[in-house]
Amino acid sequence: MLTDPPCSNPCSPRWIGHRGAGKLAPENTLPAFALGLAHGFTAFECDVRLSADGVPFLLHDDRLERTTNGHGPAGALTWAELARLDAGDGAPLPTLAALAAWARAHGVWLNLELKPNPGDAARTGRVVATALAGLGLAADGVLLSSFVPEALAAAQAAAPDWPRALLIDANAAPDWSAVAQRLGCMAIVAHHPLVSGPDWVGAQQARGWQVLTYTVNDAARAQQLLAWGVAGLITDAVDRLGVTGDRTPAC
Ligand code: G3P
Ligand code: MG
Repeated sequence: MLTDPPCSNPCSPRWIGHRGAGKLAPENTLPAFALGLAHGFTAFECDVRLSADGVPFLLHDDRLERTTNGHGPAGALTWAELARLDAGDGAPLPTLAALAAWARAHGVWLNLELKPNPGDAARTGRVVATALAGLGLAADGVLLSSFVPEALAAAQAAAPDWPRALLIDANAAPDWSAVAQRLGCMAIVAHHPLVSGPDWVGAQQARGWQVLTYTVNDAARAQQLLAWGVAGLITDAVDRLGVTGDRTPAC
């Protein structure tokens, strides 16, 4: 039987759908989140950036080509221009406001990854964090995360009550833990190969952080990470993992 670690922070959900439903639907579109929900997921990660005129919307890449029928840097277009694009199977790019309305309607938790356009980190953190309350979201229903400390710092300065997490991968700065402390993070979201064992997880918990991890698509690896005390798993495999009965918060 798995035991859950002590945790003084608000609990993150255990299972989190990556970009909605991984690769099972066009990523970061409302149909993807709806598909994840249909598979029983009630928590989702997504990537948020700003249009040229400052509208927060969902898109992973800096450029439009891979996931839309548009071209060039996403941050060069206004929202009116972006709204005309096809983000897959006829679905439009969603605004953060549209996702928030859907999340409220379905009682869904959101991990909003701040994915700033180049040179736009501070504005992205500030605009997104400032927008959340007006979108009807609650602080226990949102986690702001980013690989970009400048974006998290701007979110912290603009709206400090929204929970923050530093994303880390193999390219993380050597002083990432000091950065996360300075940013007042409640969690670390680690690329799962960095999660080397229960001692690594325990070391982060001792600093006051939950450990979330991405992108975990293998059931055995997921069980290992949970046994080590990982609080939340971001997965593409919404059709295979997170089965009913294993969806309770990890702390
Ligand atoms: O937020 C976890 C994960 O989404 C980070 O990597 O490239 O999929 O946004 P990426
Ligand atoms: Mg992401």
